Amino acid sequence: MAMTYNTMVLVLFIISLSSFGKGEEGLGASFIFGDSLVDAGNNNYLPTLSKANIKPNGIDFKASNGNPTGRYTNGRTIGDIIGEELGQPNYAVPFLSPNATGKAILYGVNYASGGGGIMNATGRIFVNRLSMDIQVDYFNITRKQFDNLLGASKARQYIMKKSIFSITIGSNDFLNNYLLPVLSIGARISQSPDAFIDDLIDHLRSQLTRLYQLDARKFILGNVGPIGCIPYQKTINQLTENQCVELPNKLALQYNGRLKDLATELNENLPGATFVHANVYDLVMELITNYAKYGFKTASRACCGNGGQFAGIIPCGPTSSLCSDRDKHVFWDPYHPSEAANIIIAKRLNEGDPKYISPMTIQELRDL
Ligand SMILES: *[C@@H]1O[C@H](CO)[C@@H](O)[C@H](O)[C@H]1NC(C)=O
Ligand SMILES: *[C@@H]1O[C@H](CO)[C@@H](O)[C@H](O)[C@H]1NC(C)=O
Ligand SMILES: *[C@@H]1O[C@H](CO)[C@@H](O)[C@H](O)[C@H]1NC(C)=O
Repeated sequence: MAMTYNTMVLVLFIISLSSFGKGEEGLGASFIFGDSLVDAGNNNYLPTLSKANIKPNGIDFKASNGNPTGRYTNGRTIGDIIGEELGQPNYAVPFLSPNATGKAILYGVNYASGGGGIMNATGRIFVNRLSMDIQVDYFNITRKQFDNLLGASKARQYIMKKSIFSITIGSNDFLNNYLLPVLSIGARISQSPDAFIDDLIDHLRSQLTRLYQLDARKFILGNVGPIGCIPYQKTINQLTENQCVELPNKLALQYNGRLKDLATELNENLPGATFVHANVYDLVMELITNYAKYGFKTASRACCGNGGQFAGIIPCGPTSSLCSDRDKHVFWDPYHPSEAANIIIAKRLNEGDPKYISPMTIQELRDL
């Protein structure tokens, strides 16, 4: 019997799909939601002022031979490293990339977007970005593609049992919304920090509940890091090495307390769901405070950037000054940790110390 080329491709595709789901251990898919801390290239496809597909970003990213990919760091993001440690053979593909089709999505999809936040208005200064509402809308599209690829019943099992949903969002709601002069002054006059944080938590609750309705069950919720200690904040506020700006850290801590309560609440209220809380704030603060202990030379100066005493004003690009010892800097650029810092953060979250990851480790979450 002669097969047409198309039938043959289809048959091969079906064979490879059926071997895909067969008795494999480990994680099926990793779905990554969030902001520039975990964006793996979505903003490359948006008309936006927040871009990282310019050199020297990605200089240490092996899979691209050191070329920029849209990741806002010199190497892998926390999301990439956690995926690797959980046994993922491929990085989750950016939703907006032309590669996010067919079988490639079975390893996961990345919806994260530089400048994105929980609120739609967050990151408006960048003109364009995917906020969390839209990221969930996009997962709804992916969800239908899974039904088409695996069949409804198998897709449901795969999403519920073998997939992890990580959400790393919230920093921009403070840095590029509430704390931003001019654009957000209205919001800050009309809303107290308490009311703004209430709003954030209410929106996030409904976004997470929508993911649950689409069969997400295993969640990792990252809290907001010490955003008052990033080189950008330290530079514009003209602080010294060991100081951090108080208000951003105070807001982050206040939000983080509420986020932890939200995780507890959803663990009780959404049957069959597990929300793991990742305490990124304390973990990054530990790295910043005791940087020398972890082999870093500085936790205040950006490796790639320009302006002020910590190279913290102009984002990383071809004309930035670039340090020669990238793995000795906690911060890659004015906003984002280096790969060296991301490796330490990801390892701690994976292996687990109840101070940083609770009520279970990410590996335990995978194996549930
Ligand atoms: C898409 O896939 C091709 C082939 O695997 C690869 O060379 C390319 O880098 C990918 N592009 C993106 C944006 O991931
Ligand atoms: C945010 O934007 C999305 C997409 O445009 C929309 O569906 C959603 O209703 C908006 N949310 C709010 C709270 O305005
Ligand atoms: C997913 O999309 C469908 C329309 O295709 C819509 O009816 C449904 O409400 C959406 N689900 C969520 C959770 O957004």
